Amino acid sequence: MPHPEFASRVLWRRASDPEADDLTLLDAVERERRARYLREDDKRRFTLGVVLAKTELAERTGREPGDIILDRTCPGCGAPHGRPTYPDWHLSVSHSGGLVGLAVAAVPVGLDVEERRRSLDDIADAVLAGEPEGDLHVYWTRKEALLKATGDGLKVPMTDVTVTGATEPPALLAWRGRPDLPGRTVLRDLDPAPGYAGALAFILP
Ligand SMILES: CC(C)(COP(=O)(O)OP(=O)(O)OC[C@H]1O[C@@H](n2cnc3c(N)ncnc32)[C@H](O)[C@@H]1OP(=O)(O)O)[C@@H](O)C(=O)NCCC(=O)NCCS
Repeated sequence: MPHPEFASRVLWRRASDPEADDLTLLDAVERERRARYLREDDKRRFTLGVVLAKTELAERTGREPGDIILDRTCPGCGAPHGRPTYPDWHLSVSHSGGLVGLAVAAVPVGLDVEERRRSLDDIADAVLAGEPEGDLHVYWTRKEALLKATGDGLKVPMTDVTVTGATEPPALLAWRGRPDLPGRTVLRDLDPAPGYAGALAFILP
């Protein structure tokens, strides 16, 4: 999904993709992270996120995918489990069920995909900030995409973030303690695949 304004692109892969078993592009830090996952599915999804990011960055920079080194330093603790960063480009990886997605842009970007199989009804109170009742997967992915674009992740509760109603055009209406954000945020709903909800958020300078 190209968006010329932010030079963005969203790419999707099925977790069943055979590249998920190919560790060639993983550096030592990434191999260690992969090894820490207990479930084979998680190892495969992580690997595909690396492959997507390095392949896309290689295309954008004219380098070889194997020469792309991503920094995953967590700003909270310094461990290499944060969002991947690379000079001049912003990245966001998301995985759920059988799908892995990558967004790349020239501005901070957040991507979220959520398989609809998992009901969110029991955590509606943790998702909604007074928005009208509606598709919780739409609310969840919009808010998680926004929280990933700022880099806060789920450290910030979703109830701090108010978005438009699920059937209305997506937009950030309010963010507790951050009145600047609604005016410089672009939010989109995505339709990644049948059975999945998705959203993409950009934060403008
Ligand atoms: C980011 C977060 C919302 C993702 O949740 P999730 O259910 O795993 O969802 P997704 O599959 O959509 O996203 C995972 C990806 O988010 C990225 N990510 C990790 N931390 C991130 C952050 N703070 N902001 C944006 N993206 C982040 C990673 O790329 C990760 O994929 P990868 O490890 O395979 O590269 C959640 O993990 C979180 O809140 N993490 C940060 C919490 C934190 O800072 N804790 C302090 C630790 S010391």
